Amino acid sequence: MNKKYRKAVIAGNWKMNMVPSEVKGFVEQLRPLMPKAKTCEVVLCAPYTHITSLRRAMKDSRISVGAEDLSLHDKGAYTGEVSAAMLEDMGTQYVIVGHSERRQYHGETDFMVGEKAAIVLEHGMTPIICVGESLEQRERELTMEYIRYQVLAALSYIPDNKLRQCVIAYEPIWAIGTGKTATAEQAQEVCECIRRVIRERRGARVARSISILYGGSMNAKNAEELLSMPDIDGGLIGGASLKPDDFSKIIAAVAAVTGEESK
Ligand code: 13P
Repeated sequence: MNKKYRKAVIAGNWKMNMVPSEVKGFVEQLRPLMPKAKTCEVVLCAPYTHITSLRRAMKDSRISVGAEDLSLHDKGAYTGEVSAAMLEDMGTQYVIVGHSERRQYHGETDFMVGEKAAIVLEHGMTPIICVGESLEQRERELTMEYIRYQVLAALSYIPDNKLRQCVIAYEPIWAIGTGKTATAEQAQEVCECIRRVIRERRGARVARSISILYGGSMNAKNAEELLSMPDIDGGLIGGASLKPDDFSKIIAAVAAVTGEESK
C-alpha cells in the first residue's frame, strides 16, 4: 500500500447474506469497533434491498455504502433490474462490477463490465471493477495474460479524465470463499501487473493514483501481510465482512501497516 499516491480502501461484499432487519444490529456492533482515526475508506456493499437500511444505520459514520451490481440499462421494460439512477438516488457511493460470481452465473462479459463501470461513473459513484483468474488459468500459467486482457477490456470504456476514480479489485476465483488465500507474493505480482498495464496504456500518473484491492479469503489474520505489499491498496472482503469483529480488525490492519495511529 502506498498512501502517498492513492487511497486505501477496505470494502465488504456481503453477497446474498443477511436480511434488511439485521442491518441495524450489525452496524451497532461495528461502530464501537471502528478505529477512531480515518486511516482508509471503509465501504459496505450489500444487496439492493439492504441499501436504505444501511444508509440509515450508518448516518454520521465514515462508512460508505455500495451495491453489488447494477443494470446496463437506463430505465424501461427490464423487469427485476436496478438502474444506476436508482442507486444514486438511494445515496449509494460505490458499485461492484464484474464480480466473478456475476460473470460465472449471469454470463457477464468483459465488455459488459466495462460498460457498467462507465455507467457507474456517469452517475457520480465509484466502480469497484473485479478481475481474476480461475484455477485452471493459473495452473496453465495464463494468469498475467488473462488479467491483462480483463483490465484492458474494462478500462477501454473509461475516459482518461475518469480513470483515477475507478477502484480495481484482483480476486483470484480459486481463493474466493475457499479459505485458500493467494500468498502475499502472488497477490502482489498480479496487482503490480495490473498497475503496469495501466501505466503502459494510460500513463504513469493515473497508474500511480489508482487503488488496487485484493480479494479472496482475506481475514483478520492475513490482512496485514497482504496490505503491506506495495501494490495492494486495500481489500474486498466477503465472508469476514459479515462479522463486525473480523471486519474491524481488517480495517485496523491498515493502520498497522502504515504506522498510523488508529485509536
Ligand atoms: P471471501 O472473502 O469470502 O473469499 O470473498 C471474496 C469476495 O468474493 C469479495 O468480493
